[in-house]
Amino acid sequence: MKTVTGQFSLQAVRELLAERLPGDNIRIYEAGGGSASFIGADIRKRAEVTVLDIDATQLENNTYADKKILGDVQAFEFPASSFELIVCYNVIEHLDAPDRAFDLFFRALDPGGLLFIGAPNPSSFSGYITKMTPHWFHVWYYKYILGYKSAGQPGSVPFRTVYHPVVSPRVLIAHCKKLGFRVVYFKEYQGDLLRQLTEKRPLLGKLLTATISCANAITLWKRDLGNGDFHLVLEKPRSAGVSPSASMKNVVEYQAR
Ligand SMILES: C[S@@+](CC[C@H](N)C(=O)[O-])C[C@H]1O[C@@H](n2cnc3c(N)ncnc32)[C@H](O)[C@@H]1O
Repeated sequence: MKTVTGQFSLQAVRELLAERLPGDNIRIYEAGGGSASFIGADIRKRAEVTVLDIDATQLENNTYADKKILGDVQAFEFPASSFELIVCYNVIEHLDAPDRAFDLFFRALDPGGLLFIGAPNPSSFSGYITKMTPHWFHVWYYKYILGYKSAGQPGSVPFRTVYHPVVSPRVLIAHCKKLGFRVVYFKEYQGDLLRQLTEKRPLLGKLLTATISCANAITLWKRDLGNGDFHLVLEKPRSAGVSPSASMKNVVEYQAR
């Protein structure tokens, strides 16, 4: 099995976004954007970036947003066709109603616009561990294993994980296609949690990598359970913006006869 790193996949996404979004004045919405951005600085320079987040401390710490909004991505409704790009990175795993957020993203996108989702994979080794363990254990892990001193404090990782069933990649893709999205890019890659663990605690990292290899063998190498994260880029097709209303459709059909 060939291992894809997060950096490799992120670079591929950045190139795709740069190609698909030429020109200036790109309207970008970072949903749950917090204080860090995963899109390239070259695109951000040419854009107006709106960051919406539910955590006031995260927004305060954000230094690059043109507009900051304190709100919930599952409820905040932008007018139709407000953005060329929506980025939702490491957020959907924290949502109680991610399907509501995807509806709002579809509406807020301009036809031809893109939605870039980055998220951990609940159907991976680290995803299973996260689901099976309580939040206090995640805080302990970040603090004492990964060495994040402020872990668990307001505005700091780890944020509470929900893992609604719709955020599993296969279910997510099927759901978004039903909404009208088209898949432009999808890649599962070696999980960030495993990478961070291997960097900070090499021995523990090697032990976990060996355990994951055994688990992969049990699946007869059909799956790589070390692929703890994924990137997904979806397009709102241009035709979505000009779908005729039911009454207009009847007129067109009548004229065609
Ligand atoms: C793991 S952080 C990711 C932040 C940023 N996107 C990044 O990749 O660095 C998760 C972010 O989602 C935000 N968040 C969680 N639930 C949210 C919601 N319902 N509405 C808006 N933001 C939310 C958190 O406050 C936090 O800033």
